[in-house]
Amino acid sequence: MAFRSPLINVMASAATKAARGLKRDFGEVENLQVSKKGPSDFVSVADQKAEDVLYAELARVRPDFGFLMEERGIVEGSDKSHRWIIDPLDGTTNFLHGLPHFAISIGCERDGEVIAGVVYNPITDEMYWAEKGAGAYCNDRRLRVAVRKDLKECVIATGIPFHGRGDHMRFLKELGLVMREVAGVRRFGSAALDLAFVAAGRFDGFWETGLQSWDIAAGIILVREAGGFVTDVRGAKKVLEAPEIIAGNEIVHEKLRRLVERAGLGPKRVKPRKDAAEGEKEAE
Ligand code: IPD
Ligand code: CA
Ligand code: CA
Repeated sequence: MAFRSPLINVMASAATKAARGLKRDFGEVENLQVSKKGPSDFVSVADQKAEDVLYAELARVRPDFGFLMEERGIVEGSDKSHRWIIDPLDGTTNFLHGLPHFAISIGCERDGEVIAGVVYNPITDEMYWAEKGAGAYCNDRRLRVAVRKDLKECVIATGIPFHGRGDHMRFLKELGLVMREVAGVRRFGSAALDLAFVAAGRFDGFWETGLQSWDIAAGIILVREAGGFVTDVRGAKKVLEAPEIIAGNEIVHEKLRRLVERAGLGPKRVKPRKDAAEGEKEAE
């Protein structure tokens, strides 16, 4: 049995408690698809209830720590070095549509660095956890990132911007560059689980733009403790508040980072062909 520190134990136990309510509510969601009000209010209540449980549990066992939570925002603690970073339900759209792929994500930050993380999927009962220097695990199984180096063999996860969110054209450029190089691109709908899957070697890499700290805090340490690399598009390791995140083993991470970077650079400036320029004029 893998040794879990007291810190991991309190995180895992808070996640398990909050997951009970989420699991129950997930079972109700399908019945609500037909109700008048629709399920989205119900889901945001489920989300808040899960956050309330996490907040109460973690504040009880570590009363001095601060919090950054998706729903409540910032709660200052008297201990200015430690902070919990919490997403009570990552994969809300999946939850709402009855798709069993969502998670609770808890990161523990010390002086700006994530030192422990837990991502728990209540449906599969998979508890991903990692602590700085102690490795990454799924339940009791030690995790290692995949060893594939050739992009042609790699399955890469991402997040697709949607209605009202993100830079759609930029994403299409990124996808255009990545998809022609790889074995497949996946969009599963939970960034926390995407990173956990990279740590577990299920996905070879992951990139996404526009995520928040609570989506990725726990996932960052999972990947790093599983031997992987996590940076922004320029290769900076301080990624918690960066506009984008890229993860994978050392080689895949760098290949993916370069592709995503190229997309951000915009199209090469080429002189338009005469007929193309005329066509554009006509279209105006
Ligand atoms: C979302 C998920 C999704 C990502 C979105 C996030 P939420 O979190 O992580 O995979 O693509 O951008 O907002 O809203 O389900 O907590
Ligand atoms: Ca989220
Ligand atoms: Ca959420």
